[in-house]
Amino acid sequence: MIIRSAEFVKSSTSLKQCPEGTLPEFAFIGRSNVGKSSLINMLTDRSKLAKISGTPGKTRTINHFIINGEWFLVDLPGYGYARVPVKLRDKWISEFENYILKRDNLVCLFILLDSRLAPQASDMRFIDMLGVNQIPVARVFTKMDKISMEILNKNIKAHDKIMNEKWESLPVTFITSSTKKDGREEILDFIENSINIFKNGS
Ligand code: GTP
Ligand code: MG
Repeated sequence: MIIRSAEFVKSSTSLKQCPEGTLPEFAFIGRSNVGKSSLINMLTDRSKLAKISGTPGKTRTINHFIINGEWFLVDLPGYGYARVPVKLRDKWISEFENYILKRDNLVCLFILLDSRLAPQASDMRFIDMLGVNQIPVARVFTKMDKISMEILNKNIKAHDKIMNEKWESLPVTFITSSTKKDGREEILDFIENSINIFKNGS
């Protein structure tokens, strides 16, 4: 897929506020600092589309972007960020869970996992929730430029092992580096194919 245009549409704090769900939508989620905003900028080839930060918890709203006037890309807040008041955090979590569970035009939720780390409890809990609710997911291992192939393979194997215990099959998986643009073509091709299926099926 060639990215001809990528524009910010709006930031929402609840499902109600989101733009009308008429277009196929692809959202990116993961723990704070995993590299969601960086991945979005890499995919769209716009260095400043989504705000990147060294401070975890930068993205605090559901952010819609429209790509090629054809599909929505969504940057979601990171989960597992503790440095906000508990009440406020719980409110966010329920708002964005609500978005994930009820957004009808959500074609795929990309769950980002830091490839440098062994499986994290918060990620596994979140993935379980997605599985139970039958949300269509793809896995994206991020920051692969920061580790050796050996550690990368070891960490992915550990993730697969845990998921194989509960899932009938493993989700589509991508391995990426936002700095080196690894995985870009693969993710964009997957999105393009998914859009075609969405169009033909509805
Ligand atoms: P929140 O919005 O806070 O939840 O974070 P995020 O998931 O959007 O992460 P963000 O894209 O802001 O990246 C966090 C940090 O990781 C930044 O310092 C990025 O430059 C760095 N980073 C992200 N992706 C990569 C990558 O593929 N390779 C390397 N080397 N650094 C990365
Ligand atoms: Mg972000």
